[in-house]
Amino acid sequence: MMIRIPAAGSLRLRFLMAVSLWVMLGIAAIWFSAVGIFSRHVEQSYHEELEVHVRELGGLTEIAPDGTIVLTRPLSDPRYAEPLSGFYWQVTADGRAPLRSASMTRGRLEEDIAHSPEILHRLENGPTGPAITYGYTRKGPAGEDIHFVIATDQRELDRLIDSFTRDLIAWLAGLAALLLATGVAIISFGLRPLDRLSQAFARLRHGETEELEGEYPAEIAPLAADLNAYIRQNEAMVARARVQAGNLAHCLRTPLAIITDEAERLAAQDHCRDAGKVLLEQAGAMEQQINYQLARARSGAGRKPAGRGVVLPDVAFPILRAMERLHPEKRFTLDASGCKGTVLPVDPVDFAEVLSILLDNAGKWARRDITVRFACDRASDHAVTIIDDGPGIPEAMIMQAFDVGTRFDHDTAGSGLGLPIARDLCEAMGLELTLANGTQGLEASVRARRP
Ligand SMILES: Nc1ncnc2c1ncn2[C@@H]1O[C@H](COP(=O)(O)OP(=O)(O)OP(=O)(O)O)[C@@H](O)[C@H]1O
Ligand SMILES: [Mg+2]
Repeated sequence: MMIRIPAAGSLRLRFLMAVSLWVMLGIAAIWFSAVGIFSRHVEQSYHEELEVHVRELGGLTEIAPDGTIVLTRPLSDPRYAEPLSGFYWQVTADGRAPLRSASMTRGRLEEDIAHSPEILHRLENGPTGPAITYGYTRKGPAGEDIHFVIATDQRELDRLIDSFTRDLIAWLAGLAALLLATGVAIISFGLRPLDRLSQAFARLRHGETEELEGEYPAEIAPLAADLNAYIRQNEAMVARARVQAGNLAHCLRTPLAIITDEAERLAAQDHCRDAGKVLLEQAGAMEQQINYQLARARSGAGRKPAGRGVVLPDVAFPILRAMERLHPEKRFTLDASGCKGTVLPVDPVDFAEVLSILLDNAGKWARRDITVRFACDRASDHAVTIIDDGPGIPEAMIMQAFDVGTRFDHDTAGSGLGLPIARDLCEAMGLELTLANGTQGLEASVRARRP
């Protein structure tokens, strides 16, 4: 499975952060409560054990006839016999030599704690560091006070708790990893319909489908349905608008022809020649606009969105054949190395129209050679350039060439609509059309629009 790093601001990142926080809080809560409960239990059983030991010590202690303190038998726990084991006991009485466990090869225990018949405990300094100390006092045969003290190093208790926390860390780390992994799995499972939706959207935008396809869960199904309805409505609206623009242009033609006729008549009369000329000029401009709108409407009206996109360089073959018939004295060359089978995600009909317009211009103005060059080396930067060996366009006028009706060479037939239509179509496809004077003649390039 490929692990994707969620993008900043994405839903996935939000969920991931929420899950991580939740897991961390949960683990911290388990940690604190488990360590707390365990420590309490261990301490409790420790203390119970020490109490038993100090009682046992009291029970085993006797004063021998010679007045020394003796034990009738060793304490049952062998750790009191092991030198510096951390387990110590001590019996003292006024005027007698103290008796200490074999483990106490050095030091002594504080007997302050052992001044009451009640068993008391406290943390004291022992022979090998801080020790939990238990003690009580009992009267001896002669009425003297005998002090019993038992101590166990605090580190014994700490060692137990440490080893528990080490185990707990390993176990909780495993649990956290498992919880996070399931969290990630749940997130990607939950968000999969959204991924499918965005893939369906991408297919729609690339023209592979005509609407959002696929089944979606109840929460996003209405969104997909609404989007589809919106897309259909939009399509219908655009188609209607195009048809209307076409119709309007068409309707204006006859009145305009009458006006032109009338203007020509006026221009022929001496007293209103100037007015007639102005009318004629304006009528001409209107006719150009009308022709342009009609051509635009024809190029896109009522057409379905794109099919599979444009396949390079196949799209150029039929156009080149047509151009060779249209301009038989010119030589067309196709250079499409590295492009075989590349698909441009744009409307093939619009793209073909742009190619036709540019190739027709090149055919009209080239001296002899025209090259169509496709470049596909970088996936994001496919381009097609049409190069001719004609006169080119004076640099200062290149931008004007895109205006409706602009023509620089009135000896060659045409209406000045090709370039503006080509640029319009390119814009609609997200492409950029540029003209430049190259080393041989004009170079017209179409490439993805730069952001
Ligand atoms: N390859 C070219 N070489 C030199 N001049 C060009 C070239 N392409 C276009 N032009 C100039 O730009 C003008 C506008 O071109 P455009 O394609 O818009 O109109 P047209 O070719 O004259 O007419 P239409 O394309 O509508 O039949 C042309 O009239 C011509 O003067
Ligand atoms: Mg043209």
